[in-house]
Amino acid sequence: MSKKNKELTFEDFQKLAKKKSLSLPEKIGFPSSYREGYYDVILEDIYSKLPFNKENKKVILDIGCGCDVLTHKIIDVCKKQQHTLLLNDSQDMLDNLPKDNYPKYIPGKFPLEHPLLKRYRGKIDYILCYSVLFYVFANDNIYQFIHEAIDLLKSGGRMLIGDIPNFDKRNRFLQSKEGLQFLKNQKQLKGSTSHENLNQKMDDTVIFSLMMRLRKFGCETYLLPQRPELPMANRREDILIVKR
Ligand SMILES: C[S@@+](CC[C@H](N)C(=O)[O-])C[C@H]1O[C@@H](n2cnc3c(N)ncnc32)[C@H](O)[C@@H]1O
Repeated sequence: MSKKNKELTFEDFQKLAKKKSLSLPEKIGFPSSYREGYYDVILEDIYSKLPFNKENKKVILDIGCGCDVLTHKIIDVCKKQQHTLLLNDSQDMLDNLPKDNYPKYIPGKFPLEHPLLKRYRGKIDYILCYSVLFYVFANDNIYQFIHEAIDLLKSGGRMLIGDIPNFDKRNRFLQSKEGLQFLKNQKQLKGSTSHENLNQKMDDTVIFSLMMRLRKFGCETYLLPQRPELPMANRREDILIVKR
């Protein structure tokens, strides 16, 4: 792996999670301002792909859940809708989330063996994996990660791999009239993240080959845009996987 690749590792996130001086977004590696004012739009975008806000008693797994405001909101909605919610991340990250009997926690680096994952294998309705895949791509085995997740889904279950930075999409945007205007307007550069400049990037070839591969393993796959009002919608996109 290139030495220029300084993307945060699972262990780096663990360290951030423990730092008392950091805000919740900072603990997951984002500046505090990054998602400010956007949490509800992000949630609406997620619901349009995994409609768990309108359903009851589903089994939902969030891999790399972090501890940001978004996760706290997801916990509240899932509790209200009486879903079984399984949250996975490092113990240090999970320590920043509610400590009562809801939700159920699965501490550790995914993929991992855990009694709850064994119990719910093949029974999970929805898997959410938001703003996580890039870090797996940069540091670990992306195929092992996704195949292990798909195995947990029930037939008809969905996995949303959300907020994937696509370097080719970003370049297409920046070369467009709209993108040139965007570059001129420094204000709109809020939310730009360093990993877009790294050597190892996710691009069209990575994203489409991943989607094609999963279709060979009994899944339908769809590449979906984010809601245009989201600050990174011009360079990030989501993969929705439906298990046959
Ligand atoms: C940028 S944060 C996103 C957190 C949350 N999904 C959100 O969107 O608010 C990335 C998270 O992925 C977690 N993570 C990275 N690799 C992981 C892995 N292999 N297994 C579990 N969690 C992982 C990190 O600990 C971190 O909390």
